[in-house]
Parts: sequence; C-alpha cells; structure tokens
Amino acid sequence: MVEDLTQPGAVERIADLVSSWSIVDLLVNNAGNVRAGRLELTSDADVHSMIDLNLTAPILLTKTLLPALRHSGKERGSILVNISSGIALVGMPFYSIYAATKSGISQFGESLRRELIGTGVHVATVYPGATDTAMMTSQTAGAELGWGRRPLEDVITDLIAALEAGEHEINTAPESRREIQQLNITDPMAVDAALAPGLEALELAVRDHRSI
Ligand SMILES: NC(=O)c1ccc[n+]([C@@H]2O[C@H](COP(=O)([O-])OP(=O)(O)OC[C@H]3O[C@@H](n4cnc5c(N)ncnc54)[C@H](OP(=O)(O)O)[C@@H]3O)[C@@H](O)[C@H]2O)c1
Repeated sequence: MVEDLTQPGAVERIADLVSSWSIVDLLVNNAGNVRAGRLELTSDADVHSMIDLNLTAPILLTKTLLPALRHSGKERGSILVNISSGIALVGMPFYSIYAATKSGISQFGESLRRELIGTGVHVATVYPGATDTAMMTSQTAGAELGWGRRPLEDVITDLIAALEAGEHEINTAPESRREIQQLNITDPMAVDAALAPGLEALELAVRDHRSI
C-alpha cells in the first residue's frame, strides 16, 4: 500500500489496513521532505508541506496506531522509531522550518517515551547527520562546510545496532559533528560565531535544496 501522507484520509486508510493485523510491533516514521532557503523567501505552500509531512503525519500515524503498538508491546514488545535529524541538535541557517519540524518530532518522541513507560512500547528518536540519499542530491554543501555525508548503509547499520542495544536517543552523525553538537549545549553563541564566516557559502550551496 502506498499513500501520500499529506493527503486527507491517508492515515485512516493505513489504520484500516493495519486493523486486520494481529501484531503491530514496529512503526517507523521515516517519510520526510525539505526545502532550504531564507525564511522570507520560502513559499507558504512549502512551509505547510514540511510541517504536514515531517510533523503532522507522524503524530497522527502514531496516535492512530498506538493502541495496536501498546497491545503488541504488552505481549512481546514493540518499537516506535521517529526519524528526526542532526538539525534538531544544531539548528542550521537556511533550514529554519525543516529544523522546527525535526525538533518537534524529537520532543514528541521524548514526551511520548515518558508517557509510555512500563507499556512495552520502546520509543526511539534517530538523529542522522547528512546522509547520502536522494534527499541530498540538490544540495552541494560538503565537508568543508560541516556537511560531510555518510553512506546510507553505514547509518542503517548503526541504527540497527543501537536499537538492538535498547537505545532511545540514536545519533548517527559522524564523529566530526559531535564537537559542534556538544558546543551547542554548552555555548550556543560560540556556534553562531563558528558558522558566521561560512554563511554566504552555505546559502549558495543549499539554495536549490528541495525534495518537495
Ligand atoms: N538524507 C539526509 O541527509 C537526512 C538527514 C537527517 C534526517 N533525514 C531524514 O530521514 C528521513 C528519510 O529521508 P531520506 O534522506 O531517505 O529522503 P528521501 O531520499 O527524499 O526519501 C524520502 C522518503 O519519504 C517518502 N515520502 C516523501 N513524500 C511523501 C509523502 N507525501 N507521503 C508519503 N511518503 C513520502 C518517500 O517515499 P517515496 O520513495 O515513495 O517517494 C521516501 O521514502 C526523512 O525524515 C529525512 O528528513 C535525512
């Protein structure tokens, strides 16, 4: 079954299909889209598209499938995986709307994880750094701007290993990215200062970044 998750009725149609399944032990909220660029140059349609797909759709899907996940959780354990982004840990310029949706989904997961303590539903949030997928083909920022990409296979290997180890907060960013993530916690203004000299180059590299 294939659904456009931004369309009315899509979540209900998925719920109808799943209602005949005796076990629902995994929901991965992976579908996502991006449009980079200055906020004031972003169309309202693109704003809505990112919020609809990256935030509203996973919340509605989770809400609808939660009774089934709880049921399987009690019987044998179940897993909810939300794919956030490293951008939820370090907000990047020219990605303000995408960052808002990815921070939103990570806080959604954190709240829900606590709400579901003792239910057998394992809630995990994944924070991938730049990963070599179709989403990144229209963006040219490279390692020199802090956007070195990891191969998809490596990210998936790390993700599976982390789930098998029972982790909840799964950061698949490369080691080179950890320093700025840590700095953003201890001294966010130092991150602003570090990014400032590369702003113009970054804007140029991401101006066509679009997967909508
Ligand atoms: N690549 C990165 O660097 C990176 C970094 C951090 C986080 N992420 C996140 O990782 C997730 C996967 O991204 P990706 O890199 O694999 O992107 P991608 O190559 O563009 O794939 C996007 C996925 O979302 C699905 N999708 C897009 N629009 C949809 C819609 N309206 N309804 C239902 N499904 C839809 C696509 O389905 P179809 O194939 O059927 O079109 C595809 O499976 C996203 O949440 C993204 O934000 C990616």
